[in-house]
Amino acid sequence: MEKGKTNIMSNTPPSEKGLIRIGIDGPAGAGKTTLARRLSNRLGVRYVDTGAMYRALTLVALEAGIDPSNEDEVYSIAEKIEIDLEPPKGDRDEQAVFVDGRDVTAGIRSPSVNKWVSVVAKHPRVRGLMVEAQQSMSGESVIMEGRDICTRVMPYAELKIFLTADFDERARRRRRELLERGYSPSVQEVEAEMAARDTIDSGRETDPLRPAEDSVILDSTGMTPDEVTRAVLRLCEDWSDCSIGS
Ligand code: CDP
Repeated sequence: MEKGKTNIMSNTPPSEKGLIRIGIDGPAGAGKTTLARRLSNRLGVRYVDTGAMYRALTLVALEAGIDPSNEDEVYSIAEKIEIDLEPPKGDRDEQAVFVDGRDVTAGIRSPSVNKWVSVVAKHPRVRGLMVEAQQSMSGESVIMEGRDICTRVMPYAELKIFLTADFDERARRRRRELLERGYSPSVQEVEAEMAARDTIDSGRETDPLRPAEDSVILDSTGMTPDEVTRAVLRLCEDWSDCSIGS
């Protein structure tokens, strides 16, 4: 369901500084990264996939043989490493992710990271570090996507979107993406992993996945990426800072 745009105009007037900050939250496989990337190309504003940061930390913790459910140990790693996100450039159309200078862009999508990332992301002190790093990127125009962007990281975003789709469609999209990346999970495996993550992300105490009060809820079931992008561009059509054309 796409709500009207009046809530955007009344609750989040364009920033006085003329910034375009768009937050996109939603469950796994809803198409947040695809939408963020397309909006980024269209608006000429950087996008940040915050899930990649939790994934990078999870990868390093697993490599170090640390129990992902041990908050102290995960935190001690999170404190030490430097995670850098590099916007797409040249032939690379996705954000690249580096840990202490090492390119982990491919490794963070592995089945073991998928399995453990929500456990790592549950830890309040770990989230504190991540939120701080993410907020430091919101002093300029940005399209940021994740789970708690509109509720915690950028409650001051000019436009807030909660992107969802029905479970079967999200699982189909995610399986297609994994196949394209060279993995071969069964339908059941993808469904089980996504359902487990959805449950942990929505049920955790600190910054659970949920729409902000003034988020526009967009159900993308049955919509193509183009249609979703157009629907969001329409939402900021009247927004003078956002010169998006037709
Ligand atoms: O791409 P997908 O939606 O499957 O996941 P992601 O955006 O890469 O995020 C991976 C996991 O990181 C999520 O399932 C959450 O547990 C966690 N996450 C979070 O807690 N907060 C965020 N802002 C972003 C991701």
